[in-house]
Amino acid sequence: MIKDHFTYKLLDWYSIYKRDLPWRNTKQPYIIWLSEVILQQTRVAQGLPYFQKFLNNFPTVQDLADASPDEVLRLWQGLGYYSRARNLHQCAKDVVNKYQGKFPGSYEELLKLKGVGNYTAAAIASFAFDQPVAVVDGNVFRILSRYFGITADIGSPSAKKEFEELANSLIPFNQPGEFNQAIMEFGSLKCKPKNPDCENCIFKKNCYAYNNNAVGLLPVKENRVKIKVRYFTYAHIQCENEVVIKKRGTGDIWEGLYDFPLEENNIQVIRDPADFIYFKELEFLNPKINFNPELTFKHILTHQRIFANFVSFDIKKDHKEELQNWVRQRRYFLVDRQKLESLGKPRLILKFLNGEK
Ligand code: ADE
Repeated sequence: MIKDHFTYKLLDWYSIYKRDLPWRNTKQPYIIWLSEVILQQTRVAQGLPYFQKFLNNFPTVQDLADASPDEVLRLWQGLGYYSRARNLHQCAKDVVNKYQGKFPGSYEELLKLKGVGNYTAAAIASFAFDQPVAVVDGNVFRILSRYFGITADIGSPSAKKEFEELANSLIPFNQPGEFNQAIMEFGSLKCKPKNPDCENCIFKKNCYAYNNNAVGLLPVKENRVKIKVRYFTYAHIQCENEVVIKKRGTGDIWEGLYDFPLEENNIQVIRDPADFIYFKELEFLNPKINFNPELTFKHILTHQRIFANFVSFDIKKDHKEELQNWVRQRRYFLVDRQKLESLGKPRLILKFLNGEK
């Protein structure tokens, strides 16, 4: 039977080659949930330190629920997809308030939690509660499309359903969690997106893609979303050891994080600081301006490419009070280095502050 062949071969492989990862040695739903939320769209090597930081700071779901939004965003800083951090926090609060601090044990009930989609619900249900629900993530799309020769566009809802049904038909009832871990592990270590080592693969004999020269063609993913290009000019306004920051609002990237006053242009980043809105606004404080038009930071997000330049304004301390008024009127903040360090900032801002390119 196909199922037995695929499933038990995979489980055998996993029992030998699995990595010892901290969330694999537990049945605690809080730890499993935390790791899965962090690992979505993040590689293990990158996610591991974040997982450890979160668990050290918030050993229980109650601790996380009690945290402030700023604390959570600061710990998440650098991981991207900040709505996931906000959902993580809300989910912890809901588990505490609606479920008496205990994650529900069924797939359907888990799906009701904030930020918990099919994938995360299946992961928690199978790893923590031994429910036979298959996870379907990028790894699973890749392996199953290649092995079984499925050419449906993985971006379409019907394909998602097809893969879910197939994965659920492969899952063994006595070891659902092991199977789910195994298929993801195989996807990240062996059946990789680029240059998988097919010659040494345990599935070589029966893999559709390998035998039909289609490894590079599967899975099929049509590109639907247009990438938006944006041009930012930031005002890095300093006075003594303090800097002006602003909290980002709703309806755009990086909600709740802190960056600098910003002007967005449609065509390109500015070349001459005199064209910059904050140049005119801050003229009355007689700032010393520093600007290198060649120093453009390129920042890549899933659906956006951002080009950013930074204009530095150094303001003498005799103008501090006027600057403070200016800052207050605009609901910006004037903070020292230590405070700035403690707040969550987009990676683009960190790159600038750390002088990285
Ligand atoms: N990626 C997503 N979930 C994972 C897990 N549990 N182990 C390893 N990689 C993962």
